[in-house]
Amino acid sequence: MSNKNYNRFTLTAALPYANGPVHIGHLAGVYVPADIYARFLRQQGKDVAFICGSDEHGVAIELRARKEGVTPQQVVDKYHNQIKNSFEQFGISFDIYSRTSSETHHKTASDYFKKLYENGKFEEHSSEQFYDQKEKQFLADRYIKGTCPTCSFPEAYGDQCESCGSTLSPAELINPKSMLSGESPIMKETKHWYFPLNEYEDWLRQWILEDHKEWKSNVAGQCKSWLDNGLRPRPMTRDLDWGIPVPVEGAEGKVLYVWFDAPIGYISATKDWAADKGKNWEDYWKKEDTRLVHFIGKDNIVFHCVIFPALLKADGDYILPDNVPANEFLNLESNKISTSRNWAVWLHEYLEEFPEKQDVLRYVLTANAPETKDNDFTWKDFQSRNNSELVAIFGNFVNRAVVLTHKYFDGKIPVRGALDGRDQEVIDEIKTFRDKVESSLEQFRFREALNHLMDLARVGNKYLADTEPWKLIKTDETRVATIMNLALQIAGSLTILSEPFLPFTSEKLRGMLNQENTKWSDAGSIDLLNEGQKIDEPVLLFEKIEDKVVEEQVQKLMDTKKANEAEASASKVTPAKEEMTFDDFMKMDLRVGEIKTAEKVEKSNKLLKFTVDTGLDQRTIVSGIAKHFTPEEMIGKKVTVLANLAPRKIMGIESQGMLLFAENADGSLKAVTPNSEADNGATIS
Ligand code: 2FM
Ligand code: ZN
Repeated sequence: MSNKNYNRFTLTAALPYANGPVHIGHLAGVYVPADIYARFLRQQGKDVAFICGSDEHGVAIELRARKEGVTPQQVVDKYHNQIKNSFEQFGISFDIYSRTSSETHHKTASDYFKKLYENGKFEEHSSEQFYDQKEKQFLADRYIKGTCPTCSFPEAYGDQCESCGSTLSPAELINPKSMLSGESPIMKETKHWYFPLNEYEDWLRQWILEDHKEWKSNVAGQCKSWLDNGLRPRPMTRDLDWGIPVPVEGAEGKVLYVWFDAPIGYISATKDWAADKGKNWEDYWKKEDTRLVHFIGKDNIVFHCVIFPALLKADGDYILPDNVPANEFLNLESNKISTSRNWAVWLHEYLEEFPEKQDVLRYVLTANAPETKDNDFTWKDFQSRNNSELVAIFGNFVNRAVVLTHKYFDGKIPVRGALDGRDQEVIDEIKTFRDKVESSLEQFRFREALNHLMDLARVGNKYLADTEPWKLIKTDETRVATIMNLALQIAGSLTILSEPFLPFTSEKLRGMLNQENTKWSDAGSIDLLNEGQKIDEPVLLFEKIEDKVVEEQVQKLMDTKKANEAEASASKVTPAKEEMTFDDFMKMDLRVGEIKTAEKVEKSNKLLKFTVDTGLDQRTIVSGIAKHFTPEEMIGKKVTVLANLAPRKIMGIESQGMLLFAENADGSLKAVTPNSEADNGATIS
């Protein structure tokens, strides 16, 4: 449904975890588009509640507190303030930036749970979960580390291996250890309250895939894949210390699952905002003529499109999101942004290093927004968009219009005389831009909307270039007055249409033009600015960014990369294995062998097949080293062979033993060979 059919808008932006600062990925994916949309609606005079706050519960916060040796409360206090400040500085115009540790939120989330519980919306189940006997605590998946069953990375988490990216469950880890005590956890029974998501599957399928065909394809695609895989009951409670206590008898020591309480945070924040403004919060969450839109990143899709709507439906009193325009991810210089690897452009650092340049970043992140696929932020692109778009197109047009008005008309808006064909053409053209920007924004196409805005500045530049007032001034001042009047009216439209995207610039421009008419509906008019009215002295809207500045930023990232690599190779020294007996060792028949033939194994890019002279016999051994050695370079090499390893079939070939290699921290391999001549079959012990 179009925005025209709604009387109110509740816009939410994902609540960031208060466990670290925010970076450009957050801004590009969620907060800039949400802010553009909120500003756009407000300029149209709509009733908007733009809601956000810090997500202050969950394991991520507890982990950060342990790492920093402070309490979770201290962690969230520190980062809540830092994040709030960064958003403010970037002009993200939330009506409220709240936090889930607030009293209102604890009560709202607790009551929400209680109502569902009392209406029989949960199922109780007991299951066995990992438990740390020493710390007397059940372990969240993130609190368990062990060896990845897929890639053997020894530091994989219970929910994911950060080395190979596999999604894991803690039970799959080899040799799992509690991160709290370092001990091996035991399995222990615990009870939780499950939300039977499976019961909402048919309804969700209809609601998302049939009733909301207008949703972005990346969003609909992810939802469809979840639905096609079948939904299962999901526990809404956890055995943790930090969080909102479960308000049910028999749930002592348990807290609400963070993904249960966080989206309810939108409701709690609306309550606080409404109370402050003398409004009724229920209008924003329970009235059908309110449009609810969630702005999020792609990792939050299932929570906002499947789980939260089902929870709202289960309550029965709430409206549902009408759209969830989730974005994909922004990478940085071709690598995934990572908080733990410090691979990011942090907003608080940018604000220090690029003072007064918030709009430049807002511009670049919108122009390059990961709307339909992951995108890359590079400092080169940042520089080039600033220099050849903001400076050369937008800034240049406005500057010429203002400077020439001062030069020829003493800084007063000149009187428009008779219009010629070129004037009429530009007047007709500028009228179209409001609708173009509006239509793109209504479809959440922010990049396209920004392009339209820049096209308006291009139209202004072309008009001045075609009419050449600097030449005409010698012969026809009346004509120049008309041209400059129209150029300034175009600049006035830029003030209005740029406001959602570049609020600081728009404000500067409004001030420069002493512009009073700034409503969205005023854009495109040629009577925005009154004849005879004074405009201010020109101020520079944008300035060129020199090579040196971006080179410094690239260098900063290179330093981070080097530090990460050094750390990775230091920590990659494989931990010592468990002690073994002499008898265990003596079971191994290790011998010197010689490679006689070597070839690639068909359909495998990892395996080589060798014939090895072990002194005992000539046998076939298959080894996964094709990425490190060519068959040719292996022929004739002396190697160490584990000769009594039970034969194994590898890709249909029986391998009768194993060749030994040393693996360096960087993953490179070296064959283990005698350092002087030894006979084939010589035993190694
Ligand atoms: O992914 C995250 O950063 C979550 N803290 C987002 C929560 S959004 C909402 F549900 F609160
Ligand atoms: Zn792995």
